[in-house]
Amino acid sequence: MDVTYTDLANKTVLISGGAGGIGAATVLRFCQQGAKVAFVDISLAGCQATVDYVSDKTGIVPLFEVCDLRDIPATRQAVNKLNEKVNSFDVLVNNAGHDEAHNFEQVTPEYFDDRVSVNLRHQYFLAQQLAVSMREKGSGSIINLGSISWMLGVEGVSIYTTLKSAVVGLTKSLARELGHNNIRVNSIAPGWVLTERQLEKARQYPEKLDAYLQRQCIKEHLNPDDIARLCLWLASEQSARLTGQTIIYDGGVV
Ligand SMILES: NC(=O)c1ccc[n+]([C@@H]2O[C@H](COP(=O)([O-])OP(=O)(O)OC[C@H]3O[C@@H](n4cnc5c(N)ncnc54)[C@H](O)[C@@H]3O)[C@@H](O)[C@H]2O)c1
Repeated sequence: MDVTYTDLANKTVLISGGAGGIGAATVLRFCQQGAKVAFVDISLAGCQATVDYVSDKTGIVPLFEVCDLRDIPATRQAVNKLNEKVNSFDVLVNNAGHDEAHNFEQVTPEYFDDRVSVNLRHQYFLAQQLAVSMREKGSGSIINLGSISWMLGVEGVSIYTTLKSAVVGLTKSLARELGHNNIRVNSIAPGWVLTERQLEKARQYPEKLDAYLQRQCIKEHLNPDDIARLCLWLASEQSARLTGQTIIYDGGVV
């Protein structure tokens, strides 16, 4: 069953990491609502694939710019270009990230900093950039993608879990900071969401899929669209008084 959030029609939405997984599903969902959607991603081929997929399904062509979110000046430039086309954003979905595995003993300071740049730093600076016009308008919704991995203390991704726990603090502080201007900031902490990339990983260890399902209360795997639909609600006026919160969406693991 599809829900229409009438207030999302013509809202302007920026999504980071829109070329795949949860980000691409979120681009599609906002386009279906009649929102004006733009996204940024490092993968040109992935961006084009999202545009083809979304325009096939909706007849709407989302805007995009290719950029590496680790490079904040380049990201600012890319977002400024998109901003000129949409005339300021109402919604930011800080989605891009990567759960690359790492061996604790072998992590270097350089690698640590790189992971910060991939998983956290751009969330802060995109919020900072978009908050300027949101403040002028006196409204806005920022949605940060976290993860339940830190709540479980998942092994082999210690930098990722550290940074995903920081998303909770970032969300709380920015909600306080921006609430004066009616800008809401929330975060989503998903469980295991079966994106193409996660499915690829799972194919190597198929037994992990069943084992994980045993940990969920609801015995169905999550898919990217589950998270995309929660983003719609968090962006809409339907959640007007909700801010500073992290919503765990994991089928009941934690
Ligand atoms: N899939 C899951 O099980 C899961 C679980 C918990 C949290 N999350 C979080 O959800 C978000 C989306 O995850 P996903 O599974 O859809 O990932 P994904 O790998 O399928 O997609 C991430 C997108 O971000 C882009 N990206 C990565 N690094 C980038 C960079 N430096 N510059 C620009 N773009 C970059 C990628 O190109 C890709 O299109 C992430 O923040 C992730 O940590 C995912």
